[in-house]
Amino acid sequence: MPTSSAHAPTAFFPSPETMEVLITKEQLAKRTREIGAQISTDYEGQSIVLIGVLKGAAIFLSDLARAIKVDNTFDFVAVSSYGRARVSSGAVKLIKDIDNPIEGRHVILIEDILDTGLTLNYLRGLMLQHKPASLKIATCLDKPDRRLVPIEADYVAFKIPNQFVVGYGMDYAERYRGVEDIRIFPDEAVH
Ligand code: IMP
Repeated sequence: MPTSSAHAPTAFFPSPETMEVLITKEQLAKRTREIGAQISTDYEGQSIVLIGVLKGAAIFLSDLARAIKVDNTFDFVAVSSYGRARVSSGAVKLIKDIDNPIEGRHVILIEDILDTGLTLNYLRGLMLQHKPASLKIATCLDKPDRRLVPIEADYVAFKIPNQFVVGYGMDYAERYRGVEDIRIFPDEAVH
């Protein structure tokens, strides 16, 4: 029997309990409900399309969707990720496009983190080519200090300093997405 697995926790992938909590699951639940209520007011009587950016935004989208009281449908896009690198190469590539047309629809793009802004800037341009009736952006986290392109989200759950975080959908090398709180990934664990 093998005694270790490629997916087992290692020194490079510290256990989540050892990481400092930045935002608790209770804070996340409260802010998600507040943003859901705000969106429900802003789009009252309308139908909206929620487009999540895979994979990081999946958990935020699922919580947000349950807090949104107006008629809504889901779609997802996927873009090239950082992989194990914590800094973006700057090049964003579409891996999965939307499944259904959004022309004439009210669209909210849903992201886990607005960091340099390159991803959302690229996706916003792409979505606008489909001629939606309107396009807004909702992000769970915003790191305004890191911005390389001028883009702001319409709905922001939390502004955070320039720290690398994991949990609530957000990963480091695909790990930690299922961690319930948002935690600070330690610098010394980066490789
Ligand atoms: P941007 O194009 O630099 O704005 O990158 C946004 C994407 O980078 C997010 O959707 C995340 O996938 C990733 N990202 C940025 N900061 C973090 C972080 O602190 N933890 C995990 N992923 C991050």
